[in-house]
Amino acid sequence: MEKSNGKKKIATSVFISGRGSNLKSIINFSKKKKSHIEIKLVVSNNKNAKGLVFSEKNKISSLVVNYKNKNKAEKKILKNLMKKKIKLICLAGFMKILSKQFIKKFHYKIINIHPSLLPKYKGLNTHKKVIENKEKFTGCTVHFVNSKLDDGRIIIQKKMRVLKNDNEKRLAKRLLKIENKLYPLAIEKVFKSNL
Ligand code: GRF
Repeated sequence: MEKSNGKKKIATSVFISGRGSNLKSIINFSKKKKSHIEIKLVVSNNKNAKGLVFSEKNKISSLVVNYKNKNKAEKKILKNLMKKKIKLICLAGFMKILSKQFIKKFHYKIINIHPSLLPKYKGLNTHKKVIENKEKFTGCTVHFVNSKLDDGRIIIQKKMRVLKNDNEKRLAKRLLKIENKLYPLAIEKVFKSNL
């Protein structure tokens, strides 16, 4: 992946569907001098996504896309990404699956965060499965996106112990804090290691 030249940052878009804690952490990170990215566009498929507050507060353009027709929705998103010369997409709690064509058109420069130690527990309800299976550890993963769900090359992972009295909610809450720290590290790693 292209490296920043120290002056110009890489135009980046973050896709969300809800709360946006990872978006918030990526925005804060992008403001640091050492970061390689600048957030130019936030995309949401949900007009009520709480995370949109963070783009507003930070005066970042946002695009809310109606996903009734996926093909049309993706065309609209692509058009806006091109307009803003976006070079990297960070999926952060985006609940829609991008089409093969979309991923291809974007040359696979899309990364995602998933709340499990991939390849374990792809898809939804990861915390529930971790508790049910009495796992001793869980964690989170940032990976490149390919056309299969939660499957692309892993960039970085962080392990976390599951405690005796953990339930889904407690686990999710503790892990989210780790996710919020891990996402910026993953972005840096993509540029530093020229992945
Ligand atoms: C995170 O747990 C992320 O791993 C998953 O969706 C959640 C999004 O949280 N893909 P937030 O909207 O970033 O707070």
